[in-house]
Amino acid sequence: MIDLRSDTVTKPDKDILQEALNAELGDDEYGEDPTVNELQEKCSKLLGFEDALFVSSGLMGNQISLLIHNTPGSEVITTSDSHIKNYEHGAASFLSRVQFREVEHKNGIIDLDEIATTFEKSKVHKPNIKTIAVENTHLASGGSIVPYNHIKKIYQLTQQLNVNLHIDGARVWHAILQEDSSLNYGSICDSLTFCFSKALGAPIGSMLLGTKEFIKEAREFRKILGGGTRQVGVIASMANKALDKRQRLLEDHAKAENIYKALVEIGDEKNEFSLKYQNTNMVFLEFENNEIANQFIERLQNQQVLSGLINKNTVRLVFS
Ligand SMILES: Cc1ncc(COP(=O)(O)O)c(C=O)c1O
Repeated sequence: MIDLRSDTVTKPDKDILQEALNAELGDDEYGEDPTVNELQEKCSKLLGFEDALFVSSGLMGNQISLLIHNTPGSEVITTSDSHIKNYEHGAASFLSRVQFREVEHKNGIIDLDEIATTFEKSKVHKPNIKTIAVENTHLASGGSIVPYNHIKKIYQLTQQLNVNLHIDGARVWHAILQEDSSLNYGSICDSLTFCFSKALGAPIGSMLLGTKEFIKEAREFRKILGGGTRQVGVIASMANKALDKRQRLLEDHAKAENIYKALVEIGDEKNEFSLKYQNTNMVFLEFENNEIANQFIERLQNQQVLSGLINKNTVRLVFS
């Protein structure tokens, strides 16, 4: 079977698994695991942040950020279809006790005027907006890239408005490699999470990045959430290796592009679907209705290919 349901299904290769056997270990609760310390330092330097913290999952990184950036009853601006709002089991309302304010967007790109207007409207009766959460790449839009320079502009605005900017960068390496942008995400946001376990190929783990003060607080929240671990270098070593191999994400982009081009070429004789490819690792096929979408999934499955259904009518092919 070829599994194209999601890039979360990626399994570590031998190279990555081998790292775990050779990792130097210590107790990370005492800050003594050299392997995780090295990885945190490496990621901070790579992306231009003061500090970093290895966390169990993307969700944990996102939710710790919300806990730090907000107060109960405040609002987080995000897109209607963002992961942080829709797919984290209601964690934001449960943990931070915040609510989300949805704003219009195009492929995950939130217009600056839209943000400014939302703040204007929010003066008297509405809750205080404390955070803007940008997702890059934007999953629901087919893995679209939110350009570095646009995020930079949003950050300038958030600084004027005195609110925080968090980036859910679960797949930020896809954007960085494709866009060939500056790596200095530390200068364009207050916090960022990225995942080692999606496409990069590590089995577990995400990195949360921010200022030294932010990471100090994040360490406390990670402990509260049960995310403090001991000889975590076993896992961090694999994450480190997966990160070193990140250039191979571009091969996944090429595979997605080839399939997209082939589908365009073959054409949709019956006019059954419309296609979306956003220059990263996904191809979306939108069908007229759920029944046809499911029939397509079944046809692929008969050819030993697994695909994913999202939003009822859309079939997702993810290359990883
Ligand atoms: C955009 C985005 N953010 C966050 C997450 C959460 O990551 P995790 O599954 O590691 O909690 C995911 C998971 O697929 C995601 O796609």
